[in-house]
Amino acid sequence: MNILVIQGPNLNNLGKRDQSIYGSIDLETIHRNLTRVATQHGVELTCFQSNHEGELIDYIQDNTTADSAIIINPGAFTHYAYALRDALADTEAPILEVHLSNIHSREPWRHHSVITDVCVGQISGLGPYSYIAALMYLLDEHRSKE
Ligand code: DQA
Repeated sequence: MNILVIQGPNLNNLGKRDQSIYGSIDLETIHRNLTRVATQHGVELTCFQSNHEGELIDYIQDNTTADSAIIINPGAFTHYAYALRDALADTEAPILEVHLSNIHSREPWRHHSVITDVCVGQISGLGPYSYIAALMYLLDEHRSKE
């Protein structure tokens, strides 16, 4: 299994953007922790961040194989990016949508995700643990198929 961790707009600013919502951990640290856990389990994991919807779509189209699984935090694209949603839907990969904050307890426009229905599930509000929870799920699923 090859796990793609895909991060949308403004997540490169984690640690600097509103810490009362997103915490103090930066993206590099999140990626380092995920890579360490994946490596411990003998699974390949690659991380990608972009502020541009087209770049995220190109990355998904160019890097998804039959063996891929996706963990994605689409940032604000979550709420309106239909082209990104279609690119995800076109993959065969199991997809987990993650959010650091609980999007359901924030502004009403954040409550809806155009991504969720093409995902196995959504993990929202656990801070950096949202990513770890998604990774543990994929590792468990992978193990159960071996
Ligand atoms: C976010 C939630 C989105 O609504 C927001 O636009 C983000 C981050 C989160 O991880 O909590 O940029 O996806």
